[in-house]
Amino acid sequence: MLLGLAAVFLNWSVRLPWDWYHSAQSIRMNEEDDLHTYDEDSEDENGLSSSQTLEEVPEDEASEPISPPPRTTRPSQKRETATKELYRHEIFALLSCFLSRPSEGLVSNYNLTIFLMASELRPVSHLIKLVQSRTLHLQRVVNANPYSKVNGNSSYDLKGLLRRLEEVEARGPSSEPTANPEAQLTGKQSASLITDVGAPKYREMRWKGESAFPAPTVIAAGVNFTIPSREPGRNIPCRVLYPSKRTTDTDRKQCRGSVMHIHGGGWVLGDERSSDPLCQFYADTGDLAVVTVGYRHAPEDPFPKGPEDCFDAGEYLVKNSEKDYGGPLRFIGGESAGGHLSLLVVFHLLKAFSKLDLCGLILNFGCYDLTETPSHVNTGNTPIIPPKTLEHFRNAFLPNMSLLERRSPSVSPYYENLAPFRGRLPSALFTCGTEDPLLDDSVMMGTRWLMAGGEAYIKIYTGGPHGFVAFGEALKEAQMAMGDIATYIEQCMEKLDS
Ligand SMILES: *[C@@H]1O[C@H](CO)[C@@H](O)[C@H](O)[C@H]1NC(C)=O
Ligand SMILES: *[C@@H]1O[C@H](CO)[C@@H](O)[C@H](O)[C@H]1NC(C)=O
Ligand SMILES: *[C@@H]1O[C@H](CO)[C@@H](O)[C@H](O)[C@H]1NC(C)=O
Ligand SMILES: *[C@@H]1O[C@H](CO)[C@@H](O)[C@H](O)[C@H]1NC(C)=O
Repeated sequence: MLLGLAAVFLNWSVRLPWDWYHSAQSIRMNEEDDLHTYDEDSEDENGLSSSQTLEEVPEDEASEPISPPPRTTRPSQKRETATKELYRHEIFALLSCFLSRPSEGLVSNYNLTIFLMASELRPVSHLIKLVQSRTLHLQRVVNANPYSKVNGNSSYDLKGLLRRLEEVEARGPSSEPTANPEAQLTGKQSASLITDVGAPKYREMRWKGESAFPAPTVIAAGVNFTIPSREPGRNIPCRVLYPSKRTTDTDRKQCRGSVMHIHGGGWVLGDERSSDPLCQFYADTGDLAVVTVGYRHAPEDPFPKGPEDCFDAGEYLVKNSEKDYGGPLRFIGGESAGGHLSLLVVFHLLKAFSKLDLCGLILNFGCYDLTETPSHVNTGNTPIIPPKTLEHFRNAFLPNMSLLERRSPSVSPYYENLAPFRGRLPSALFTCGTEDPLLDDSVMMGTRWLMAGGEAYIKIYTGGPHGFVAFGEALKEAQMAMGDIATYIEQCMEKLDS
């Protein structure tokens, strides 16, 4: 349903319906040829039937101004009824979102379409390519669901994934031999290990490359510095990576602006040096100075200490970026817990400053709802963060906090009231893999973004585990995601020029 809703929105945003129509149809035909062996009933059992709207509804929408060409498929009666019903639900949901604006006479869905095209997504022409590739990815998730090929036996793909993760891991420590080879763990073991050895020990192991993740690569050109904290006499450790081509101090003050990056690690692990390669990548892609924040961690400093450090750093960058880096704060982003903190910072800054020059958010597999989403509960024993680890992280960050308290927007940005930010929400890119219990978070948050009139890209990578971007070139999902992030940064920067 949510995927469908997102797809309906994104399809409305395409100004050249024919282009979209033809590409979507050819993709669909190819995929159907590949997959004609799996039957519709098993698809329904997988709970994916709602995504049929991806095929049906957008076609109707897209071809509205023109007479639709003959269908190449014959949808069953059941499918058609279900689709029509879903479509009605979606329109109803949409209308209720926009009815709060009394000035808009939203009489028909045709008018709604125009309204969306005109006021929500102005620079559409730049983005057709991205929108198309996103449609393609959403369709892949639906049509090429990895589980469907083995008749719902999911252990097959999970094993493949774990094997690939182990291969990746084997490369990490091998460059730097560890004293104790038995300390090399499989992805699955190390994920549950954190609960056993405790946070400080696990942090140490991560630096040695003894966890599921390769040991962090520290880039020598990175510069340590500090940002003053709200607590007198305290400074927040930070680190900045400049574009590689800028080597002198004068040159480094003339970047095109800055990125605020917030590292992941379940609010417990990682620090400002653990994402150097990713930050360097952002810096080189956009000619930007990338500042990454060494915020305080749980369980030593639980909520709200970490978010407060991030707010302080965010405010500092809004005020000083122009002077220090040659341009305003342009992007905010992070991974996992860093995605969560990024959104808290964005809402904090939107409230604190009437004018912001943010042009994009890069939110990789973030956790936006700290209660429990269906995918937190139902995804099973996923690599990197099985449900037990996720729970451990949440409890460390939010000790003794009731479910009701966790639903506060100051804790879970998913519950933020977006209405006051209409027209001010920066563009946002949400990425997530299908093997990630946090998949719901990205899809739902991205959809809420769109519903509030923001521009959002929701990119889903089939087979991607949690944290996949950290595996760099070793995982093909990470390569794809890096390519998409680069496209996103470049297109956001191009919009500044036009
Ligand atoms: C769109 O809305 C206007 C009122 O704002 C109305 O006059 C017009 O008939 C509507 N168009 C359609 C196609 O419903
Ligand atoms: C799933 O497939 C694996 C091998 O691919 C097999 O060992 C296992 O028994 C299967 N499980 C079920 C429930 O069919
Ligand atoms: C940067 O800070 C880290 C600790 O956060 C420290 O280990 C490292 O030595 C520092 N690097 C330099 C060049 O001072
Ligand atoms: C949380 O509850 C435990 C007992 O369940 C108690 O020992 C601890 O002090 C409490 N922590 C806070 C921050 O209230």
